[in-house]
Amino acid sequence: MPSIRDESASCDLSEAALSPAPAAIVIFGATGDLTHRKIVPALYNLERNGILPPETKVIGFARRPLSDAEFRDGLRESCSKFSHIQPMVSEAWDALAARMSYLEGDLEDPMAYARLALRLAGPDMPPNALFYLAISPEQFGVVARYLDSAGLGTAGHDLGETRFRRLVVEKPFGRDRESARALTKTLQECFAERDIFRIDHYLGKETVQNLLYLRFANSIFEPLWSRNHIESVEIDVVESGGIGTRGGYYDHAGAARDMIQNHLVQLLCLTAMEPPATLAPESIREEKVKVLKAIPDYGVRELLARSLRGQYAAGKGIDGKSIPDYRGEPKVAPDSKTETFVALNIEIENWRFAGVPFILRTGKALDRQESVIRITFKRPPATLFAGFCGDRLAPNVLTIRIQPDEGMFLGFNAKVPGAARLTANDLHFAYREDTGDYFPEAYERLIADALSGDSTLFLRSDETDEAWRLVDSLEAAWFSADGQAPLLSYEAGGSGPPIPRVWFRQGGRG
Ligand code: BG6
Repeated sequence: MPSIRDESASCDLSEAALSPAPAAIVIFGATGDLTHRKIVPALYNLERNGILPPETKVIGFARRPLSDAEFRDGLRESCSKFSHIQPMVSEAWDALAARMSYLEGDLEDPMAYARLALRLAGPDMPPNALFYLAISPEQFGVVARYLDSAGLGTAGHDLGETRFRRLVVEKPFGRDRESARALTKTLQECFAERDIFRIDHYLGKETVQNLLYLRFANSIFEPLWSRNHIESVEIDVVESGGIGTRGGYYDHAGAARDMIQNHLVQLLCLTAMEPPATLAPESIREEKVKVLKAIPDYGVRELLARSLRGQYAAGKGIDGKSIPDYRGEPKVAPDSKTETFVALNIEIENWRFAGVPFILRTGKALDRQESVIRITFKRPPATLFAGFCGDRLAPNVLTIRIQPDEGMFLGFNAKVPGAARLTANDLHFAYREDTGDYFPEAYERLIADALSGDSTLFLRSDETDEAWRLVDSLEAAWFSADGQAPLLSYEAGGSGPPIPRVWFRQGGRG
């Protein structure tokens, strides 16, 4: 398909966004899964695309005894499996590997941090550091404290305008509002808030970033983007796989903490926020947090009527392979009550959206793998076409596909040629087909932004705090004495518990 872009009309925002500064990137948890699957493949692709400054160094920090060569070889193997661009370009890998070293150390051994500080002070090291915490969440605060004690924190230290030491923190950020607040306090005692970069990898996805551009770089959507024209908004992040080997973590988290608190809430914010005054990080984050603050404090009964929770039972995945009962997955309690599916109907009580149902849905072991936002506009009055379609015309639906098959579809009604009938059609834009552009992985963008000091795509502490308010109230309702939300069983590979129709109506409750 030919490109539909008018290149003469494109404007390049990349210069402003991507100016990574050279730094020593210290990866805590350097032998773990995240490092092997995401972080190092992202660094390799940044190197391959000439985005990583040549002075960048990578230091892997972990407990296992490894030589530099063993560390690099293991990462090369993972990169050749997990980089989204294949085959690997040896020169790019070699150039990156030459700047990688390993530091054996226990996360709770002060001497290991002293060795790290010494290495960072070496003559071949850049003056800046990015500490990437790819470790288990209970250790985020511990590592921040040790870094600070070794003189590597930034709270109360002025490094000046040209140098930095930043802390990148993975999810989950706490397990409820209270623990997230305690973690924020610890991190802020060690690093200045401007140096703390909380990751939600959904924000690094191109199609998620595009939500802002779609809404605010076009004049056709914004006038319709309100309760005057929108009937309902659905945000689905559904996955076809079960929890596999992640039972140890997942059984203590569940779908609400694992997905709603972060990824779905972020999609909600970007869909519902007001236009920011500028593209400056604080301007955007300010508008996002206002959306969360406009979610009412629902009582227990109302939350029970507005939510569904489910757990998968044995079935066949979309690849034809069997998926066991959730309770039979490794490291899951045999009587587990953890939810693997959540649907939630909330409102945003502000002038733009009051009364519009926002239906969030996420689950594992379902019949599809997709993340989409579906905006259903109000039905047109059908009187004119009553003879064609009874008394109901199909509403216009704008579907924004985050993944896979990234793109947008707008459904509309048109006449069938030669017949007095209407048919549903759609205008569609498929990112990869229509533009053929390079699609960076979320982690590439996020690491480049952290090196550039651009915090737009990272979470501010008040955002995580408000997101926990929602999830805490949900958990409290589910497990309150008069609550006890039923845990619906659904067959793996099926469509999951059905959403009550009444949710789709304005002001609708279960
Ligand atoms: C993670 C969750 O944050 O996001 C996982 O912990 C989930 O449970 C994953 O599978 C989904 O991310 P993506 O990018 O594959 O949609």
